[in-house]
Amino acid sequence: MSRFFDLVSKPAREMGGFLPSPLPRRSSLDTQPRIIKLDSNENPFGPSPRAVEAMQLALAAANSYPDDDCSELRRKLAAYHDVPTEQVLVTAGSTALLGLLCQTMLAPGLNAVTSERSFIVYAMAVHAVGAQLIEAPMQEDGFDLDAILEAINEDTRVVFLANPNNPTGTMLDAEAVDKFIAEVPGHVVVVLDEAYYEFASHFAVRRKVEYSGSLKYLRQGASVVVLRTFSKAHGLAGLRVGYGLGPAELLAYCARMRDTFSVSTVAQAAAVAALDDMNHVGRVVSNNVEQAQILGVGLSELGYRVVPTAANFLYCDVSGDASGFAERLRGEGVSVRPLGGWGAPNCIRVSIGTPEQNQIFLSAARKVGGAT
Ligand SMILES: Cc1ncc(COP(=O)(O)O)c(C=O)c1O
Repeated sequence: MSRFFDLVSKPAREMGGFLPSPLPRRSSLDTQPRIIKLDSNENPFGPSPRAVEAMQLALAAANSYPDDDCSELRRKLAAYHDVPTEQVLVTAGSTALLGLLCQTMLAPGLNAVTSERSFIVYAMAVHAVGAQLIEAPMQEDGFDLDAILEAINEDTRVVFLANPNNPTGTMLDAEAVDKFIAEVPGHVVVVLDEAYYEFASHFAVRRKVEYSGSLKYLRQGASVVVLRTFSKAHGLAGLRVGYGLGPAELLAYCARMRDTFSVSTVAQAAAVAALDDMNHVGRVVSNNVEQAQILGVGLSELGYRVVPTAANFLYCDVSGDASGFAERLRGEGVSVRPLGGWGAPNCIRVSIGTPEQNQIFLSAARKVGGAT
């Protein structure tokens, strides 16, 4: 008989939890060949050498608690984005801020709205506080902003828009978001989740479209929180550091809900140094744009449908059981994400790797793909 089932809270009983990459991490002493991890949209080039150096220096201060306010990093981000420091909140990854926003804005009886097939953490953060997540239908593989607007009701407090979306990689242009923000009712905060901002803005320039105007909404006084992260283009996913740019009053409420000392000294030092190495980000996003094209063509030649991406991964319909496909790929030493859990059992999400990793992935897909 279960000992704690009746004792834990309803959300804890009912939540499914996060399914991380299926692969156990190998220790550095392991002599087996490393699996090529294209399943979590990580940066295949790692952090900037400047960030690595800053981390090494910060290690010697590991006996002291971190600066809870992340003062230096906040100041630097405020200057970088040209907003007041009070409009910046640094958290242990941007997912931590998703949780804080839900704790701050939601409760049982209230809801948040997003799209179907979007970032899995929205559901987790909303359900953890006993609130409801309403998922509006998609239009093809992108957001249907009219359907999202229609889904908003008087109990809605938050809308999550991942731009670009994970896992479909689709991007909303500035005109669509302008119109959306103008129509959202006043009792709703719009979270513009721009975890892939650096990739999307690079693609947008190439494609001559206008990407996010998110900071403009903030400056105009709209109820928006813009999420950015050091996990992707900066290659610091393992350190857990991200941030939000939003109305000072709302961020101050979120800050009250924070775990104390949640962003480590090492993470803060790395992020400060990473901001000084935009050349590193430039190299990462250039590789991504070139390799997105090569991977896209390679997958299309295998007969798969690939959705044009604005991020560092591709959403691909392998026209068959994607979970079996992913398992066979793992047998060839490559890990990708099958998307059955997102309601897309024929689709995978594959992160864009280095040129070499992508060639290995394409050869493996060629080898195992016929059986889907
Ligand atoms: C849309 C989206 N938002 C946020 C995150 C999480 O970022 P962080 O590592 O800063 O928590 C991810 C990571 O995959 C993501 O896809």
